[in-house]
Amino acid sequence: LVTYTLQLENAINELKAFSYSVSHDLRAPLRAIRRLTEELLEEYQTQLSNEVRDKLKHIQLKLEQMYNIIRDLLSLSRISHQPLYIKPVNLSHIVQEIVTSLQQQTPDYHHTTFVIQPDLIARCDEGLIRIMLQNLLENAWKFTRERANARIEFGSVPQSHPTVYYIKDNGIGFDPQYADDLFHAFRKLHVGYDGSGIGLATVQRIINRHGGEIWAEASPGKGATFYFKLL
Ligand SMILES: Nc1ncnc2c1ncn2[C@@H]1O[C@H](COP(=O)(O)OP(=O)(O)OP(=O)(O)O)[C@@H](O)[C@H]1O
Ligand SMILES: [Mg+2]
Repeated sequence: LVTYTLQLENAINELKAFSYSVSHDLRAPLRAIRRLTEELLEEYQTQLSNEVRDKLKHIQLKLEQMYNIIRDLLSLSRISHQPLYIKPVNLSHIVQEIVTSLQQQTPDYHHTTFVIQPDLIARCDEGLIRIMLQNLLENAWKFTRERANARIEFGSVPQSHPTVYYIKDNGIGFDPQYADDLFHAFRKLHVGYDGSGIGLATVQRIINRHGGEIWAEASPGKGATFYFKLL
């Protein structure tokens, strides 16, 4: 069993190194294509027909998406490598900071009421938990876009041991049969919303590194709640 576990660990490490270098090495040729497209658009400005210009712009858009996917994959693989630094962290402060920056980035996006339970403290890695909360809040923010009275809450379930935290929104929600599926990379349930579908895979990995658990409850049109605990 020991030999088998070691073999398995080696295989996993090789895979991790492989996906890291693939995503890393893809960036150089992508950058070159991006530059060439830019040059075509600039240098042949007057000679290009509208149709060609539109197609080149479309290529640029797709390049941008690819770039973001690679960036997110890289940060996903970094999460599995970096050592944890555990200390008491005020989750409510972090949520407040993220909310403020979301509102600054897209001020007239929509009117959203935020309800943040104050001073929820957890022992965890602050950097990783920030990435996790950022992803969950970005989703809540993004998928309440169509709500006139959007409401996003962060809190803890009373009398839960270990504490169960949640981020709840009243956005478009999703079919609960996909509640587990969402945590796999590249799973996207809704069209017309940007994103590479890596956010929740990242969240899951951060929770795993903390020995915790995450799960989601939702129904279509009635919002979603993401619960998590950290051990
Ligand atoms: N709060 C939510 N309400 C409704 N659907 C959600 C919510 N959070 C996630 N989802 C669904 O789960 C999918 C996966 O979420 P995830 O965060 O992994 O990807 P993304 O937000 O599409 O892209 P990325 O996070 O990489 O920018 C989303 O595309 C969406 O369909
Ligand atoms: Mg997301």
